[in-house]
Amino acid sequence: MKILNWMSATLDDAEPLAALFRRAEASAPVGLDQRPEGVHLRLATLGPDLARHTLVGVADDGTVAAYAEVADMGEVDGVRRLRLTAVAHPDLRGDVRTELHRWLVERAEQLRRNGGTARAAVLGTRCAENDEAGHRLLVEEGFTPARHERDLVLAVPESPPTVALPPGLVLEPVDARYEELTRLAHNEAYADSPAAVRPDQRTWPQHAVAHPRFLPGLSCMLLAEEGRADNPVAAFLFALADEGTDEPTALLHCLGTRQPWRRHGLATAMIVRALHQARSSGYRRLRLQVSDTNHPALALYRGLGFTESGRGHAVLMRRLAAD
Ligand SMILES: CC(C)(COP(=O)(O)OP(=O)(O)OC[C@H]1O[C@@H](n2cnc3c(N)ncnc32)[C@H](O)[C@@H]1OP(=O)(O)O)[C@@H](O)C(=O)NCCC(=O)NCCS
Repeated sequence: MKILNWMSATLDDAEPLAALFRRAEASAPVGLDQRPEGVHLRLATLGPDLARHTLVGVADDGTVAAYAEVADMGEVDGVRRLRLTAVAHPDLRGDVRTELHRWLVERAEQLRRNGGTARAAVLGTRCAENDEAGHRLLVEEGFTPARHERDLVLAVPESPPTVALPPGLVLEPVDARYEELTRLAHNEAYADSPAAVRPDQRTWPQHAVAHPRFLPGLSCMLLAEEGRADNPVAAFLFALADEGTDEPTALLHCLGTRQPWRRHGLATAMIVRALHQARSSGYRRLRLQVSDTNHPALALYRGLGFTESGRGHAVLMRRLAAD
C-alpha cells in the first residue's frame, strides 16, 4: 500500500478517517476516538483551520491511509500550545510517518509565526507504548518525552467490596442543580495538574453530562451536608462508555476530591460505587488513564487492584523558540 494523493480534510472524511483510526489504534493505541461522530466532532472543532491544518493521504487502493493534523490548544503564559497528530495505516510502505511529521512541524512553525507577534510554541504529540519506531522518529525530530499516560484496567468483581463514608457526606448521582458547583470543584481538584483540561462554563457540558458517551449510572458526586457553604461538592466522578473494546467497559473519565477532603476515602468510595453500578449494568471492566507523574492517583488505583493494560502512550514535546 502506498500514498497516491495528498489533500486537506473535509467534514465528509469523518467516516474513512474513523476506519483509519480503528486500524491504527488496533496496533498502536494513542486513545483516538474511533467513532465517525467522534471524528466528525474532532474535525469540526478545528473550524476554519480545518483545510489549512490537516493533511489526508489516499492510498493506491482508494482508502484513506494517512492523516496529519495541527490543533491550536490556546496560549498559556505567552506560549502557544499546538497538538500534533499523525496517523499512518500499518500496511503503508515507505517512510510516510517521517513525511507526516515534517509536514506537521512545518505547519506548526507557520502557525507560530502567523500568531501576531511571533512567539514561542510548544508542540505536543502522543506515541503508543509499543511503538518503538515512532518513538525513535520523534526523538530524531527533536521531541523529548514529557510524561507517560498509563492505561489501567480492573475486572468488575462479582461482589464488589463495601466501604463506609466519613460522616457528614452523601454520595449521590450527578445532579443538574449542582452543575456549576461541580465544574468549580473539578477545576479546583485539577488545579495542580498541568496537563488536565479545566473547562469553562461553555465547554463543561461536553466534558461531562453532555458527553455523547456519558454514563449517568456510574457517575456520582459527594456532597458535604453542612459546613463548607461555599461549595458542598467535595468530590466527583464522571464515567463514560468505552466503545473501543470488545468487553463491555466503562471508562473513569475524570474523578477528583477537593483538597480539604483528601485522604478520607472519598475517591475510593466513588470507585467502589462505580463497581457496584457496573456490576448491575453489565459492565465487565473499569478502565482509566493516568499520568505516571500523578503519584496519589496511581497509589489509589493500584490499591484498588487496577493493573496496566499495555495500551498506554507517551506524550512528547518539542519547543519552537520565538524569533
Ligand atoms: C487522586 C485523588 C482523586 C485521590 O482522592 P482521595 O479522595 O484523597 O483518595 P482516597 O482518600 O480514597 O485515597 C485512597 C488511597 O489512595 C492512596 N492515596 C491517595 N492520595 C494519596 C497521596 N497524596 N499520596 C499517597 N497515596 C495516596 C492511598 O493509598 C490512600 O489510602 P490511605 O489514605 O488509607 O493511605 C485526589 O488526590 C485528587 O483529586 N487529585 C487531583 C485530581 C486527579 O489527579 N484525579 C485523578 C486523575 S486520573
